[in-house]
Amino acid sequence: MDNMLDFGVNRDKCIRCNACIKDCPVHIIEYRDNYPDILTHMQEQCIGCQHCLAICPTGAVSIFGLRAEDSLPLEATPAVAPEALSRFVRGRRTTRQYRSEDVPRPLIDKLLADTAHAPTGGNTCDLTFTVVDTRLALSRILKELIDGLEKSVAEKPELPEFICKAIAAYRQSNVDEIFRGAPHLLIASAGERAYCGDADVVIALSYFELLAQSHKLGTTWCDFLKFILDARPELGKLFGIATDRPYRAILFGLPAIQYARTVQRDNKARCRTINS
Ligand SMILES: Cc1cc2nc3c(=O)[nH]c(=O)nc-3n(C[C@H](O)[C@H](O)[C@H](O)COP(=O)(O)O)c2cc1C
Repeated sequence: MDNMLDFGVNRDKCIRCNACIKDCPVHIIEYRDNYPDILTHMQEQCIGCQHCLAICPTGAVSIFGLRAEDSLPLEATPAVAPEALSRFVRGRRTTRQYRSEDVPRPLIDKLLADTAHAPTGGNTCDLTFTVVDTRLALSRILKELIDGLEKSVAEKPELPEFICKAIAAYRQSNVDEIFRGAPHLLIASAGERAYCGDADVVIALSYFELLAQSHKLGTTWCDFLKFILDARPELGKLFGIATDRPYRAILFGLPAIQYARTVQRDNKARCRTINS
């Protein structure tokens, strides 16, 4: 029970600047014997955000056995220039034409490790990433999905028109309107502890999308799959996901196309201002 969080302060490095105390979102760090320490009777309130480790200017704080020297150092100025980020965000596009090669697994793993840094409500970090990491596997799943949809029609209500059209396109012309010919699918699912799960899964995939595009991969959000699983939740077993918890899907792979310029929609979203 004592020091359950494995919180430690290197007294040779600590300059007693208060930074870890002031930044703790649940206020469970206080001075004890002149150095910051966890209030043990409140340690269960820790949300595991590691801000104490991240903010310490001298790297004196460790928590959960994690050492400051194993974190990436950050510069005072943002690592990405605002103009470069603006152009990158404006240049993000949905890809619907993919090359056939698989993305190397180490790159997928790197993207997922970076995506794990996306924020989650209350820092629950209760997300599972389900990745289909070969084109072969995704084409098999697509076939099983179409088979399952067709079989389901016998005993269930009719499927929405756009799903029927996608089935017909697959059967008649071998056109994949569901997975858009992408080689990979990523599903982010929220667990029982995620009380902001709806937002968590969308934020995670938004980060993934930008990270993937920074590596010149193409991405396609795939709510088509969600509409299918809303109509036929039992087909969630093809992906091993629980369809009664929040989840979202995105396709990705090497793009077969390259966009030459941004689109123009600066004023597409309405902007309202509230003054005083
Ligand atoms: C939540 C969400 C779900 C989407 N689902 C699909 C989908 O199932 N299939 C598809 O081709 N595109 C899908 N899209 C892509 C949108 O159609 C696309 O973002 C939009 O047409 C604008 O194009 P852009 O992303 O290149 O700006 C989805 C996008 C979002 C944000």
